[in-house]
Amino acid sequence: MRKPLIAANWKMFKTPTEAVAFTDAFLPLVASQTHAEIVLCPAMTSLAATLAATKGTHVHIGAQTMDWHDNGAYTGETSPLMLNAIGATHVLIGHSERRQYFNENDTTVNLKLKAALAHGIVPIVCVGEHRKEREEGLTNDVLKLQLSIALEGIDPAAASPLVIAYEPVWAIGTGLTATPEMAEEAHKFIRAEIAAALGHHLAASTRILYGGSVKPDNAAALCSLNDIDGALVGGASLDPASFAQIVINSAA
Ligand code: 13P
Repeated sequence: MRKPLIAANWKMFKTPTEAVAFTDAFLPLVASQTHAEIVLCPAMTSLAATLAATKGTHVHIGAQTMDWHDNGAYTGETSPLMLNAIGATHVLIGHSERRQYFNENDTTVNLKLKAALAHGIVPIVCVGEHRKEREEGLTNDVLKLQLSIALEGIDPAAASPLVIAYEPVWAIGTGLTATPEMAEEAHKFIRAEIAAALGHHLAASTRILYGGSVKPDNAAALCSLNDIDGALVGGASLDPASFAQIVINSAA
């Protein structure tokens, strides 16, 4: 009942030319991969080129962040209306790098989530603990707090597009991956928190992605687990063959 979602977070990589070179190589490799929803999240300056290059295919394009206002004097920001206008369908919200370097927090995540849902953009809300928090046994406390604030005031009737990405910060870009057992345990906990906030019905249909050093060789083991509904991929999504292999292996 939950269609897997495999998303590429290109972070601050790829010019428009490089993005189109990627899609040229990538699209034929995943032409028959319809088991999963595939989303590419390029930098803002590559959104238009990537949208044009994937038009008419089953590959969707998302932004890596957005502001929650419709418009206004917010220099440098991009609004949900602007993403809608160019055809971007998804948005990453509260990635740990946004939290670490750009002062995002659970409250701004909540505002962005509400804005995305109000404008029909699929929100991929990122949560996850730091290494010290895991070592101190605080993983569930951290996830509980992040989710309780992120989901505050969300109408369950309007929240069916919601996607959560569990990205343990210590696993991002480090080559360290949560073991399938650790990931499954966190995903189960997240689903229970969604149920507490928004009801069991919504929790059962909400996709929860795993992110943090996902590679072609660990994608199958992670994605085969009950509560893992796909992956959010950084480094290994920059190469078309590698990201295509992750999409293919996620079906295994
Ligand atoms: P890596 O796959 O490079 O660890 O990055 C994960 C991530 O941050 C995806 O959003």
